[in-house]
Amino acid sequence: MRLAHLSVIAASSGLLLISSFPGCSDETRNAEQTYQQFCVSCHGENLTGGIAPSMLDEVWTHGGTDAAITAQIITGDPAVGMPAFGEVFSDAQVRALVVYIREQRSKHALNPPASPKPDANQIVTTAEHQFRVEVVTDEVDSPWGVNWLPDGTLLITEKSGDLRLWRDGKLSDPINDTPNVDALSQAGLFDAVAHPDYQNNGWIYLSFADLQTKLTGSRLSLTKIVRGRIEDESWIDQETIYEGAEEHYPKAGGYHFGSRIVFDEAGYLFFSIGDRGAKEEAQDPFRPNGKIHRLFDDGRVPPDNPFVNQPGAVPSIWSIGHRNPQGLDLNPRDGTLWATEHGPRGGDELNQIRPALNYGWPLITYGMNYNGTPITGETARAGLEQPIHHWTPSIAVCGIDFYDAHQFPAWSDNLLVTALADRNLRRVVLDKGVFKSQEIILQDIGRCRDVSTGPDGYIYLAVNRPDKIIRLVPVD
Ligand code: HEC
Repeated sequence: MRLAHLSVIAASSGLLLISSFPGCSDETRNAEQTYQQFCVSCHGENLTGGIAPSMLDEVWTHGGTDAAITAQIITGDPAVGMPAFGEVFSDAQVRALVVYIREQRSKHALNPPASPKPDANQIVTTAEHQFRVEVVTDEVDSPWGVNWLPDGTLLITEKSGDLRLWRDGKLSDPINDTPNVDALSQAGLFDAVAHPDYQNNGWIYLSFADLQTKLTGSRLSLTKIVRGRIEDESWIDQETIYEGAEEHYPKAGGYHFGSRIVFDEAGYLFFSIGDRGAKEEAQDPFRPNGKIHRLFDDGRVPPDNPFVNQPGAVPSIWSIGHRNPQGLDLNPRDGTLWATEHGPRGGDELNQIRPALNYGWPLITYGMNYNGTPITGETARAGLEQPIHHWTPSIAVCGIDFYDAHQFPAWSDNLLVTALADRNLRRVVLDKGVFKSQEIILQDIGRCRDVSTGPDGYIYLAVNRPDKIIRLVPVD
C-alpha cells in the first residue's frame, strides 16, 4: 500500500520537475526505485536513517546543499561507510535522487510520522507461545549491548559511551570514569559482560572503539577490550585485556567494529573484531580485524591458539575471514560457539565458529557491494567455510542468544536473532548444528540490536529508534 502510494507521488513529481532538467530520461522517474534498491539498506525506509544518518532532519555533515548531496552520491565517503555511486549511476540518476531526497524532506516536514511506540500491553501470538511486550525503560540512548550480572542487574551499554545498570526496576545514571570512546559513525561503547566468576572477582569486561590521538596525532580507533569493577557508581581497577598494535589502528569512526564478548565454559574469552572496512585484511593473519579472537580472562594468549606459531601473526586469532560479526554466543547444550555477521548487500551469515577456520570474507560471499557492483561471483570454495544459514537480502543481523530458560519451554535451544534493518526478532531452530527453520516472533518494534535472556527467563531486547529496553513476558 504505502510503497504504491509513494511511487505515485515520486512519479508525478518527477513529471513536474522534468521541464527544469532537460535531458532527463525515464531513469529520473525511477528515483524512488533507485533509492529502494541502493540506499534503503543504510539510510532506512523513507530516509529515516539506519546504519547511516536520517536525511529528513536538519543535521548534515556536508551542508545539505544540492551540490553537497550530489558530490556525496558520486564520490561517497568510503572511510565512514558511504559508498561511491559515480561509476554506476548516470548524471540523470544522481540528479533524480537529489530531487527524491528533497521531495521526501518536504513531505516529512508537512507530516512527520509518529515514532512507532510498542503498545505497553501488546499481546503477540506466535506458533508456540503468546507473550506480552513490556517496556523496561525508554530512558536509554541508543542501547547497544544487554547482559546480566548474576544478582539480576542488567548491564546496558549506550553507543555514545555510557554504561548503565538497571536493577530493581530502576535505571542508574551513567557509571563514572568509564573509558573514553570513539563514537563517530558505527563506533562506540559496545558490549559489557560479567566474568563467569563475577560473584567472587567482580570483573566486568567492556569492548569499545578505542580513540587514539597519541600515536600519530591523528584520530584513530580500533576495538579494545578492558576489564574493571564497579564500585560506588564508578568504574575502577581497569586493566587492558586486548588492544591492537599501533599499526592496526585505522582512521577513527567508520564501520565494522564487531565487538561482541562471550566466555565459554572453560573460562576462555572470545571477542569479535569487524574488518573495519578493509575487506582484504579479513584474510590476513597479521591483522586483528575481520577475526574472532580467543584469550585467557586476564588477556594472556592461550598457547594452543591456532596462529601462535606463525611468526608475525596476531596470536589471539581464533578464526578468520569475517566481515562484521555483531552476534556471538555459546550454545549452552554442547558448548559450541556461534556468530552472526553482517554481510554487504545480501549475505548476512550465521556461522558455527571453530578454531583456525576461514569463513571466507571477501573471497566468497552471498552478497554484493552496496552500489550494486559485484564483490565476487563465488559463493563457495574449497577450504572456506559455508555459513550455516545466510539471509539474502540482508536483514542486518545483530546480537544473538540461545534460549535456555523456563518461561518459553517450546523455544528451548532455539537461537534468538535480532535484526536492525528488518526491525525484528527471530527464533532460529537448529538441529545438530544444521539450520531447520526460523520464525519472526516480534516485528516492527524498532531496530533490534541485542537480545539476552534474564535470570527471570524473560527475553530482554535492546531496541534502537525508538530507543528502549523491552522484554517478552509469556501469557497463558
Ligand atoms: C553502506 C551504507 C550506505 C549506503 C548503501 C548509502 N549510504 Fe549514504 N551514507 C552512509 C553513511 C554511513 C553516511 C554518513 C557518513 C558520515 O558519518 O558522515 C552517508 C552519508 C550520506 C550523505 C551525506 C549526508 C550528510 O549529512 O551530509 C548523503 C547525501 C547520502 N549518504 C546519500 C545516499 C544515497 C542517495 C544513497 C543511495 C544511492 C546512499 N547514500 C547509500 C552510508 C550509506
